[in-house]
Amino acid sequence: MNDLIEFLKHEGISADLVEEVQHYADSHAVKEELKSRIPVPHFHYYGNKIWEEALAALLCGKNLMLAGEKATGKNVLAENLAAVFGRPAWDISFHVNMDAASLIGSDTFHDGRVTFRPGPVYCCAENGGFGILDEINMARNEALAVLHSVLDFRRVIDVPGYERISVAEDTRFIATMNYNYAGTRELNEALASRFVVIQMPPLIQDDLQRLLKDQFPDLTAKYNKQFALLFLDLQKKCENGELTEKALDLRGTLDAISLMQKGIPVRDALDLGITNKIFDSYEQGLIRDVIAARLPAKLRPSEVFE
Ligand SMILES: Nc1ncnc2c1ncn2[C@@H]1O[C@H](COP(=O)(O)OP(=O)(O)O)[C@@H](O)[C@H]1O
Ligand SMILES: [Mg+2]
Repeated sequence: MNDLIEFLKHEGISADLVEEVQHYADSHAVKEELKSRIPVPHFHYYGNKIWEEALAALLCGKNLMLAGEKATGKNVLAENLAAVFGRPAWDISFHVNMDAASLIGSDTFHDGRVTFRPGPVYCCAENGGFGILDEINMARNEALAVLHSVLDFRRVIDVPGYERISVAEDTRFIATMNYNYAGTRELNEALASRFVVIQMPPLIQDDLQRLLKDQFPDLTAKYNKQFALLFLDLQKKCENGELTEKALDLRGTLDAISLMQKGIPVRDALDLGITNKIFDSYEQGLIRDVIAARLPAKLRPSEVFE
């Protein structure tokens, strides 16, 4: 956690906000048995404006929605936020079969008796946790309706047949939502109105190079830059409509570099991470052209790393 505070200071995030969040984390205790739920992030989120908006919203007690294309760091930011606030986190991945019971909880038999088995939203609400509602727009509206009273000013959970419980003061929900993803739907207005919504921007070159340096410190300066530029080339082609957004997969680029570390030739690794995910041969050709313009055909992994 201290490491993250240091990172925020170093990035030049508003000193007032950093101080406030540090004070928050220091003065809001977490039960011993929940301490292992406080995330320890592997990656830092880069983007000062977004950091400041997100910190301000959460300090104001708001719930946050992070909306944007895939690989814009939504999950990285959500995890970083729980960590810097020092709160236990519950990751709740949404899918079409999600129902109210899997969020709130349901009755189960235990030792011959019916008892209530709390779901993740209930646990989070009870313990002042950060609930990460991941890809919330994958779920059906009926399932999401149970969240309305949790997320708005009422801050209560109604469990049919049980007492209502109120949502602990430290509880926050951070939803993520992907655009243009098969299977996603527009979020209904009733739900969207319960969040402060941040549109997550794509990475800029400078941050992208820092991210690559963070994750692959042994990349040479030259290829750190070339891989960043390659990603930005693909990004530009997506914006112009020459490539579909499936081609724009930062995770795929990072995977490819990991494969290079294991000795897979550079172009082959990029095929595995990026090109092969596209099933249109014309588009595959376009992607290979973009790659070829940046990286020689026979480039060996040993030339890319120091
Ligand atoms: N602004 C950013 N700061 C740090 N990492 C980022 C950023 N944008 C994208 N990433 C990287 O992209 C990858 C995917 O991030 P993730 O949070 O899973 O994306 P999303 O949830 O938006 O699809 C991760 O490896 C992450 O480090
Ligand atoms: Mg995600």
